[in-house]
Amino acid sequence: MTQSAQLLERLQLQLPIIQAPMAGTATPQLAAAVSEAGGLGSLGLGASTLAQARQAIRDTRALTARPFNVNFFCHAPAVRDAAREAAWLAHLQPLFDELKADAPTLLEEIYPTFVGDDAMLAMLFDERPAVVSFHFGLPPASTVQALRAAGIYTIASATSVEEAQLIEQAGVDAIVAQGYEAGGHRGVFDPDARDEKLPAFVLLRQLVRQTSLPVIAAGGMMDGAGVQAALQLGAAAAQLGTAFIACPESAASASYRANLLGERAGQTRMTSVLSGRPARGMVNRYIEHGEAPGSPPPAAYPVAYDAAKQLNAAAVKLGQHEFAAQWAGQGAPLARALPAAELMALLAREYGKAAGGC
Ligand SMILES: Cc1cc2nc3c(=O)[nH]c(=O)nc-3n(C[C@H](O)[C@H](O)[C@H](O)COP(=O)(O)O)c2cc1C
Repeated sequence: MTQSAQLLERLQLQLPIIQAPMAGTATPQLAAAVSEAGGLGSLGLGASTLAQARQAIRDTRALTARPFNVNFFCHAPAVRDAAREAAWLAHLQPLFDELKADAPTLLEEIYPTFVGDDAMLAMLFDERPAVVSFHFGLPPASTVQALRAAGIYTIASATSVEEAQLIEQAGVDAIVAQGYEAGGHRGVFDPDARDEKLPAFVLLRQLVRQTSLPVIAAGGMMDGAGVQAALQLGAAAAQLGTAFIACPESAASASYRANLLGERAGQTRMTSVLSGRPARGMVNRYIEHGEAPGSPPPAAYPVAYDAAKQLNAAAVKLGQHEFAAQWAGQGAPLARALPAAELMALLAREYGKAAGGC
């Protein structure tokens, strides 16, 4: 049995397609629709409080009895640096002034890490989602073992062979090979370490050769042909994020959808200025301002995100959307605005066709 067939059997999937966890964009409706269609739906809970996370799991379960994935951030806590944060706020001040909004004087670490969050872990043992996945690092191996002992399948993102090896050593069940073309936050364990910026298929081949775990390809796959190509290269499944943003079930704003389906989709950039960690999104005024020559380095993740979110909230009140985080991968021009069930049916047809045609 291939690793793909084993993964499908273990998670009761009909299609090797995982809708990526997308904090702020994936919803219980989206995840449930994908799971109902035979893929694996996912919730991005990295930005959720304990109560919100529990509610999202319950809301999804009310919509589907099929397995779904819940995802958490395992980042190292921010190293606070008052001078750097003040310089970053000073750099953003003209934007706050333009919006006639008060800039914050102090920034907060808005997303606590899952590592060491015993209450969140206890919630997972209560709720028992079928799959739990990690981004930006790993919890301790003992946590991974405890989740697995509870019958939960575990997945973690890697952007390099070294990260994949740490994932394998921690006893995780499967690895997401996240390429540089992927939308959203890059799952690098240490944002200050050297980054080879490998594309998804290059990383996928290296992980297939150098680890023994099932590898899930992520980055740039937008249609059934892309999924099929990943499987031909040894992937056990494909994880698609950007392809699902324009589904009506997502939480994307009208401006986000319009940009994704318009010219902006062709211009994405990997940038740390929105959140403090590298993430790929559609270029807008905030990114251009943050990266303008002479700009100071952004505050650390997720402190910089606090500033960006406050600025965006002030802008949205005035009907402006140039300061939003509109994450998207390089495949964005191929996005299709279809209900998730229809998109899954189309992906299945294309995948079947690509399988026959190759
Ligand atoms: C809007 C958006 C939000 C994302 N949020 C998360 C997240 O919360 N957790 C996570 O593991 N990955 C997140 N990702 C990354 C995806 O897991 C995946 O690596 C990526 O979407 C694959 O590339 P693609 O967008 O080209 O399909 C996000 C991606 C997008 C587009």
